Amino acid sequence: MIKGIVIGFILAIAISVGCVFYYFSAGMAPVATADPPMPFEKKLANMALDAHIEKQHIPPSPVSADEPNFLAGASVYKQHCALCHGLPGQPPMDYATTVFPKPPQLFRGKGVTDDPASETYWKAANGIRLSGMPSFKTKLTETQLWQVSELLAHANEIPESVKRVLIPDSPTAASAPPLTRSSASTCCAWARSKLLSIDAHNFRRQDGHTCRKIATSLIDQRSKRVMAC
Ligand code: HEC
Repeated sequence: MIKGIVIGFILAIAISVGCVFYYFSAGMAPVATADPPMPFEKKLANMALDAHIEKQHIPPSPVSADEPNFLAGASVYKQHCALCHGLPGQPPMDYATTVFPKPPQLFRGKGVTDDPASETYWKAANGIRLSGMPSFKTKLTETQLWQVSELLAHANEIPESVKRVLIPDSPTAASAPPLTRSSASTCCAWARSKLLSIDAHNFRRQDGHTCRKIATSLIDQRSKRVMAC
């Protein structure tokens, strides 16, 4: 009797493992950004992330939730986060609508105002695997990480001065360096700093050609001028 139960149990496990293996090896798992999520994907990923962060016992925020820190957090946010997570009152940027998972718009709805700043701090410092959310540990200082986390924890009650920092820049072609073949790297540096700096992590990996293409099309869009880059 016990032997039967044990064999049945082992068989059930083997069949389950086989099914999961088949699901992936037969190309049934969703892989394109427009595909629907895998069954239980979001639930399992969130469960793992929450449990892991809870175990870290992150110390309380060393920065206070006040205007100077919100202002500093807002400029960090605008430069490093806004491309993916959006700006107040603005539609999500093109880039953010074409990736999977879609980055949550942190100034829409409740954003992460229901999470403690320490949770956002952990996510910003360490990133989130397999999601496109980068780690900023080596890009931002501890203070900057906490400032942006406090800003996001209070995203629904930021003062006017902070809202003004979070207004999108409107880069004009006039402010761009001349886009000639010889100044490709200057052009790319400008495009990164003006338009793409937020995503420096990802765009750093782009080759010069792709970078020039992105820069040209963005500048063209705004200036309606065709520029050779
Ligand atoms: C290249 C795109 C990208 C950039 C840049 C980026 N993020 Fe994210 N972020 C994501 C994605 C995608 C997710 C969703 C991850 C998921 O669903 O598991 C995310 C998730 C988060 C979350 C969790 C949100 C939630 O609902 O729990 C926080 C907090 C966060 N990011 C903060 C930041 C901060 C702060 C910055 C800037 C310092 C930043 N992110 C920059 C892509 C990005």
